[in-house]
Amino acid sequence: MTATEATALLAELAAEFPVLQREVAGRPLVYLDSSATSQTPQPVIDALTRYYTESRASIHRGVYPLAVEATDLFEGARRRIAEWLGSTPEETIFAANATAAINLVAYSWGRTNVRRGDLVVLTEMEHHSNIVPWQLLCQEREAELAYVRVTDEGMLDLEALDSLLERGPRLVAVAHISNVLGTVNPVAEIARRAHAAGALVLVDGTQAVPQIPVDLREVDADFYAWTGHKAYGPTGIGVLHGRRELLEEMPPFISGGHMIRTVGDDESTWTDLPWKFEAGTSQIAEAIGLGAAVDWIRAVGIERIRTHEEGLVAETLSRLAAIPGLSVQGPARAQDRGSLVSFTLGGAHPHDIGEILGREGVCVRAGHHCAQPLMRRIGTNATTRASFAVHNSLADVDRLIEGLEDVRRVLQL
Ligand SMILES: Cc1ncc(COP(=O)(O)O)c(C=O)c1O
Repeated sequence: MTATEATALLAELAAEFPVLQREVAGRPLVYLDSSATSQTPQPVIDALTRYYTESRASIHRGVYPLAVEATDLFEGARRRIAEWLGSTPEETIFAANATAAINLVAYSWGRTNVRRGDLVVLTEMEHHSNIVPWQLLCQEREAELAYVRVTDEGMLDLEALDSLLERGPRLVAVAHISNVLGTVNPVAEIARRAHAAGALVLVDGTQAVPQIPVDLREVDADFYAWTGHKAYGPTGIGVLHGRRELLEEMPPFISGGHMIRTVGDDESTWTDLPWKFEAGTSQIAEAIGLGAAVDWIRAVGIERIRTHEEGLVAETLSRLAAIPGLSVQGPARAQDRGSLVSFTLGGAHPHDIGEILGREGVCVRAGHHCAQPLMRRIGTNATTRASFAVHNSLADVDRLIEGLEDVRRVLQL
């Protein structure tokens, strides 16, 4: 299928997002910030409403029919999410978001396994969520952190990775898709090399899950974290997939109700996976909503979404190339990128660009995108980022380009 065919097939999907019916300054809203948070299609809103209006009850402990129904909805969502990505329900743990999922690994696995003098390897293109938990761990354990270099083309330098692997790190933590450069990293190859060197691998799949087909069996990471609110799901829910043998051995992270088997006066034992890592009342509505989001993505087809968004990125790259003074960060080719494009424009501050575009109803993100080490690497404080979702069209790219012409006029660039 060509990008044009995919786009034609998906054109009617914008109608499924109620918020996109809004207008700004008399024109339709153009939402180009799905990498920050995606909009919600009606079937996901309906699933949340149905839980609250028809099936609300606490899960797992209730024996009355309403509680059994709520439990089935919650665990059914987990099963479908796991199946979609090639994982299993036992290895699919719900957390508050990707940040909480990564912290679970840094605290539970990290505090058990990382010792003084050990090495943890990150990359220069990580989101703060995949940096700060490892900094805290390494500070506490007197371990060392090292970063795989990003090349001038916005790719990971795999030779630099190999050199770091020679030092026998405990863990390599890497983004599947950079939220700034858009780079799709070769995570299966990175996992292969890291495993050969005896390291575990955590992949931050936050941008990848809604943008490209992901098969966790192919990626073969030990941990894979992502977040629901960027994948057409509700806020307040993320997912950690982990290798069963590791999860079995890891101590709980958050403790309390729901994650125990027995509680004595002085000590307790833990229940089975995945609930061992899900203390307290779960995000019941959010998990059900995320299940509905995954059903929706599957019905549309992630391959079709990828083709469509890659087409929009290709068009955006070629149109941006014609704007004087504009430079795009990250890989030159759309096929090497996820569904986002970051850029700088002359000396203009990205906040000014974002504000002028915003007045015209074009929503983009401006700032350091929670990636300050990467900003230092690429020599800027901030960029403007346009990111795409299934509901975007070539008309939205036109509105972005038109808006940037206004930016140049207003700021006299
Ligand atoms: C690559 C990446 N990792 C992690 C996160 C953190 O996601 P959350 O805030 O949902 O935990 C983000 C969010 O911007 C991201 O883009």
